[in-house]
Amino acid sequence: MRKLLIALATLGGLLCVAACREENRKAMNEPAKPVAVGGEANADGNARKWWKEAVVYQIYPRSFKDSNGDGIGDLKGITSKLDYLKSLGIDIIWLNPVFSSPNDDNGYDISDYQGIMKEFGTMQDFDELLKGMHDRNLKLVMDLVVNHSSDEHEWFKQSRSSRDNPYRDYYHWWPAEKGKPAARRSFFDVNGDAWKLDEKTNSYYLHYFSQKQPDLNWENPKLREEIYAMMRFWFDKGVDGFRMDVIPFISKDTTFPEMPAKYNGDWGRFYGNGPHVHQYLQEMNKEALSKYDVMTVAEGAGVTTEDALDYVDADRHELNMLYHFEGVSLGYLPDSLKILDPKGYSLVEFKNIYSKWDGVFANKGWGTIYLGNHDQPRMVTRWGNDAPQWRELSSKMLTTFLFTMRAVPYYYAGDELGMNNIKFDRIEDYRDIESLNWYQQTKNKGGDLQQFLAAQKITGRDNGRTPFQWDATTNAGFTTGTPWLKVNPNYMTVNVAAEDNDANSCLNYFRRVVKLRKDNPVLIYGKYTLLDKDNPNVYAYTRELDGRKILVLLNFKDKPVSANTGIDLTEAKLLLGNYLTASPNGQLQPYEAAIYEL
Ligand code: NOJ
Repeated sequence: MRKLLIALATLGGLLCVAACREENRKAMNEPAKPVAVGGEANADGNARKWWKEAVVYQIYPRSFKDSNGDGIGDLKGITSKLDYLKSLGIDIIWLNPVFSSPNDDNGYDISDYQGIMKEFGTMQDFDELLKGMHDRNLKLVMDLVVNHSSDEHEWFKQSRSSRDNPYRDYYHWWPAEKGKPAARRSFFDVNGDAWKLDEKTNSYYLHYFSQKQPDLNWENPKLREEIYAMMRFWFDKGVDGFRMDVIPFISKDTTFPEMPAKYNGDWGRFYGNGPHVHQYLQEMNKEALSKYDVMTVAEGAGVTTEDALDYVDADRHELNMLYHFEGVSLGYLPDSLKILDPKGYSLVEFKNIYSKWDGVFANKGWGTIYLGNHDQPRMVTRWGNDAPQWRELSSKMLTTFLFTMRAVPYYYAGDELGMNNIKFDRIEDYRDIESLNWYQQTKNKGGDLQQFLAAQKITGRDNGRTPFQWDATTNAGFTTGTPWLKVNPNYMTVNVAAEDNDANSCLNYFRRVVKLRKDNPVLIYGKYTLLDKDNPNVYAYTRELDGRKILVLLNFKDKPVSANTGIDLTEAKLLLGNYLTASPNGQLQPYEAAIYEL
């Protein structure tokens, strides 16, 4: 019945939707003008694509803008801020999941893939948001969470009800009479155990994440067909793509053998290399993606430089882009629950990582770059310096980095204001399942809770999820109610209203750097060359395309340093910098960023 209704609705809607869609497509996807990509620039770049030139801006809907005073951000809230979003110069908005969900993991546990989460609004609100975005030439990318669903999804309710239910094989079950299956680690389980015994049918089910996030069984062709149909449902509505949650995890060896010794401890890498992952992605491409002009980006959990191209080489017909974890994982103590090495991170290593990843996509595929998102702390706290005298400068410096690399920038809402970590003192202030369960896990093991809490102040995910700071009114103008997560007290000065009026604010710097990238194809397609590679303080590189050459100098330290690039800057033209006066000839002030045309 449900399927029939959907089919009818889709059919009816299609006639009018198709017409509007075509209009939108025409407006947004102007015929690609060939770009003469010179030198060793990305060969695949000859096929100019709208998504390669785009700036992606990520919104965590729960924390962006509340329209009805319940303390939770919602779709109408986002719609009310579309003019602000347009003013940023961005092109694509990635929305974290907005589907129906009991919110065990803030929407990453979906109970209905074709419904909207009640707290966020209705399908009509979604349609209005999408229309409002398309009217402004903004594109909408949704979050596809199909490694697992919620245990409250109808499929799982059916599946767990009996061993011979038609939905049984939608999930991974292991009959308890065979004994306990070989260990698999769960990221969010208090005991770290990914197998949960379900009394009703005396069987274990698999959950790589929380107990309320059972893993879907992609071996089952019926499940795969349902997922592709669901994707087409959203594409037919007009959505412009999907960010794909832990997509490399979808394929498993369903005999569930003992973990190979070489992966000991490296669960993400093991989970990310399922035997049929590329078969499924090619099938997904054929059944859904290839039918639309959309973009896809994989959350590249467990993906390394060696296998990245298997996901995004255009000739393989899988996905367009992926984002890796190597950069954001730098600096943790090994085998710790995100505890940072007190020595800090090495800029030389940081440069090596990003340079190596640039090289992966030098001839095929296309890269992405990010320093913050909803799973990370605030970029300025983690990678810059959020002490009052350095917060703005270092935040602008990091933004400069993100917008001058050869990769699509994925920029997290709030970073354009220089928002920083809230740094909760007490576990009671956290809402994130990861922090709460890891705290419990540490406690159960008799671990050092003070060390854990101190580390969470820098690395906990809720730091990146505090409400967006609109103005200096109560709760930063985010809500008239009680916010679901505390607002950072610095909202009195760090907010859109204040920064809009300040030509030198992080916000206005962000707008300038976005425009610079978009106006200069050399910053999008140009060849990247790392300079002064062993310099422990400065990240320096050039970008080159068709006779143009840009030099980027970034001081990652809170002291004056010098860049030794061997390039004479006396004739160079400063295109943009985060100081009113740039330092001469490679001398850099603390956290200085400078972009020169050579
Ligand atoms: C990755 C998502 O980004 C994260 O927020 C979520 O908790 C896990 N996948 C599980 O879906």
